[in-house]
Amino acid sequence: MRRPLMAANWKMHKAAGETRAFFEKFKPLVERADHCDIVIAPPFTSLAAAAEAARGSNISLAAQDMHWEKKGAFTGEVAPGMIRDAGCEYVIVGHSERRNFFYETDDSVSRKLAAALDAGLTPIVCVGEKLEEREAGATELVLTRQFFGAFSALTASQFSRIILAYEPVWAIGTGRTATPQMAADAHRLLRKLSDERFGTEVAHNLRILYGGSVKPDNIKGLMAQTEIDGGLVGGASLDPDSFAAIVNF
Ligand code: 13P
Repeated sequence: MRRPLMAANWKMHKAAGETRAFFEKFKPLVERADHCDIVIAPPFTSLAAAAEAARGSNISLAAQDMHWEKKGAFTGEVAPGMIRDAGCEYVIVGHSERRNFFYETDDSVSRKLAAALDAGLTPIVCVGEKLEEREAGATELVLTRQFFGAFSALTASQFSRIILAYEPVWAIGTGRTATPQMAADAHRLLRKLSDERFGTEVAHNLRILYGGSVKPDNIKGLMAQTEIDGGLVGGASLDPDSFAAIVNF
C-alpha cells in the first residue's frame, strides 16, 4: 500500500503573518491525521514562519522551486542547501507555471532534480499536458516526453526517492477538474513508463499525486482511484478548513 500524501502549493500567497495564522487554525484540524503525509509549500519568505509554526507537528514543508547550483552569482535564486536549512524536506520541481511563465525546460527540471536528491530533499516533480495538447490527442506523447526529459539521467535508486505529480494545465485554477478516470489513465501511463525504465518494484512504490482544481468535494472521488496517491492542491489549500477537509478526505 502506498501512503497517501496531501500537498499544499500556496504559490505567491501568504506573507509570514498570514502563514502563522493559517498554521494556528490548521494544526488542530489535522493532528489526528495519521493516514497520510501532509506537506505545505509556502513562498520562500514565509518558510521561516512556517518552520517555526510546524515544529513538532505532523506537517512537513516544501519549497516551490530552487536552483541546481550549490551557491554562486545567480541573482534571485535559492540553493538546495538553503531550503534544507530553512526547514524543507521537499521541493516542487517543474511546476507548469514555472515551465510556462518562466521558461523552465525539461533540461533544467532534470538538473534541479539531481541537485535536490543530492541535497537530501524529496522532489515533487510535476508533469501535465496543456488543453490544446489534450484536444490534439497528444497527452500521452507530452507526458512521455516530460517523463524522459526529467528522469532519463536517474538511476532506479534515485528515482525511487521522487514523488510525481500529474497536473493537467487546463485543470489548474480553472475549476475544471480532470475526472477521476482521466487522472487515473494518466497515472497508469506514468506508472507504466516508470516500470519500463526503472523496474516493477520501483514503479509499484512510486507515489503519483493529482493536481488541478482539487477541492473538498471532489477529493473523495479522486482518492477512490487506486492509481491516485494524493493531491497537490493550489487554491483550496489556502483556507485551513478547506485544506483540512482535503487531508481528512
Ligand atoms: P489549483 O488547485 O488552484 O487548481 O492549483 C493546482 C496546482 O497548480 C498545484 O500545484
